[in-house]
Amino acid sequence: MRTLRFTAELRAQLTPARRAQRRIGLVPTMGALHDGHVSLIERARSECDVVVVSVFVNPSQFGPEEDLAAYPRDEAADAERARAAGADLLFAPTVAEVYPPGFCTSIQVPGVSEALCGAVRGATHFQGVATVVVKLLNMAGPDVLYLGQKDAQQAAVIRRVVCDLDIPVDIVVCPIVRAADGLALSSRNAYLHPRERRRAVALRDGLDATERAIAAGERDPLAAADAGRAAMAAHDVEPEYLEIVSPDSLVAVGVIEGHVLIATAARVGGARLIDNALVSSPQSSPPPLPSAFPLQIGDSPTCSV
Ligand code: PAJ
Repeated sequence: MRTLRFTAELRAQLTPARRAQRRIGLVPTMGALHDGHVSLIERARSECDVVVVSVFVNPSQFGPEEDLAAYPRDEAADAERARAAGADLLFAPTVAEVYPPGFCTSIQVPGVSEALCGAVRGATHFQGVATVVVKLLNMAGPDVLYLGQKDAQQAAVIRRVVCDLDIPVDIVVCPIVRAADGLALSSRNAYLHPRERRRAVALRDGLDATERAIAAGERDPLAAADAGRAAMAAHDVEPEYLEIVSPDSLVAVGVIEGHVLIATAARVGGARLIDNALVSSPQSSPPPLPSAFPLQIGDSPTCSV
C-alpha cells in the first residue's frame, strides 16, 4: 500500500485503473481508524478492484470551539490498519493541498443540514463536510463511495449533494459497528476516561428504550423520545437531541409510522457522541426501505432522497 500526499500523484496512480475500467472505491476518513472504518474498507475491498482510503482531518468542518487541535492523529497506525483491511492507496493530503491559498468555494446543503447535528454544530459543519467530500470525489474519481450509517445525517447530506450535482458515483452506506456493550465506535471515544466510557452506553440505551416504546405501540414521537431520555438520564446523560425523524429528509415526524430514524447526540465528559437506529413500527405496513439505508451498489444517485 502506498501513501500519497498530492492529488496529481493520486490521479496518476488511478488513471490506468480507470482506463482499464477497474472499479475504484473510496473510503473517506479523518483517521484514528477503528473497526468501524475497517468495516468500510473491507466492504470496499470485497466490491472493488482498487481501494483508496483518505485520511484528512478536515478543518472546515470543525467549529471554532470544537476539537480540531485535539483530534486524534496517528498516521503510522492508520496506514497499518488500512493496509491490513485491504486498502491499495492511502491518500493523506496536507491542508494546503486541499485548501490552497485563495480557496473560497463552499457547498451548502440546506434542508438536510439544518436538523439534528446541524442545529447544534451550526450550518458550517455540513458545508465543510460536503465541500471536502466533493473535493475528494473529484480528486479520486471513484465509482463507489463508502460511508457509515453511524453518521446518518452526513450520509443524507452527501447523497443529496451527489444527486443534486450529478456526481457519477454510487454510494454504499455500511452498518454501525459497535463495541461489545453497544457503544458505537468513534474516533472521539478516545476522549472518554474509563468512568465516562461506562456512561457513554447511555446513547445506545436511549435508542433501545425509544425502540422498545415504539415496539410496544407508542406512535407519539415525543412520548417515545421521552422513554429514551429517561434511559439516558439513568446514566446521568442529557442528550443534545433525541429525535424521531424521517430517514431521508431528517424532518421530525408527527406520528411514528413505517420506517423512522431515531437519532441522538450527547456530550459525555469531553466527548460529543452521536448514534442512531432505523426502526419500523410493527403494526403499519411499511413502504420499502428508504433509499438512504442501506444503499447497495447499483443504486444510481437519482434525486429520490
Ligand atoms: P470519520 O469520522 O473518520 O468517519 C469516516 C467514515 O467512517 C464515515 O463514513 C463514518 O460514518 C464511518 N464510521 C465511523 N464510525 C463508524 C462505525 N462505528 N461504524 C460504521 N461506520 C463508521 O465522517 C468523517 O470522518 C468525515 O466527516 C469525512 C466524511 C471523512 C469528511 O471529512
